[in-house]
Amino acid sequence: MDNKLIFRLKEFYTLEILQVAFYEAQANSATDEYYKKAFEKIVGTEQGHVDYFADKIVQANEKVPSVAGSVFQLAGSVVGETMEFVGKYNTCMFGVALENKATEMYRTFIDETNIKNYVKIKDTLFKNLLDEEFHAYWLRDYATKHPNA
Ligand SMILES: [Fe+2]
Ligand SMILES: [Fe+2]
Repeated sequence: MDNKLIFRLKEFYTLEILQVAFYEAQANSATDEYYKKAFEKIVGTEQGHVDYFADKIVQANEKVPSVAGSVFQLAGSVVGETMEFVGKYNTCMFGVALENKATEMYRTFIDETNIKNYVKIKDTLFKNLLDEEFHAYWLRDYATKHPNA
């Protein structure tokens, strides 16, 4: 495995860790049953993404990166804005921004695997990309339907 690919696997591992942490915090603090279930479901999917990249890193005899500092600050720096935790609307819209960033990163990674012909990785990247898109659609839809939440 070349260094560039290892770099990407670690980068995506960190991205997915941030997503798990963000959604888990929302699921834990939510009181609305439907909203809570939605975030728990997203956490499950993101954890699957984390596990995939962790496995790949270990298979390459590399160390899984440790995510230091506040994950929320890191998530904010990924999105390029401060995380707003006031209400469901802001939370969902921050989630949309995070998912959009993840989607953009997945598309870049997929383009790279096209050049290098990493068929197996590419297959999973496409599945993950679609998961992130579904998350973004749900979050945006919820925010649109609950503008004052
Ligand atoms: Fe993810
Ligand atoms: Fe996601």
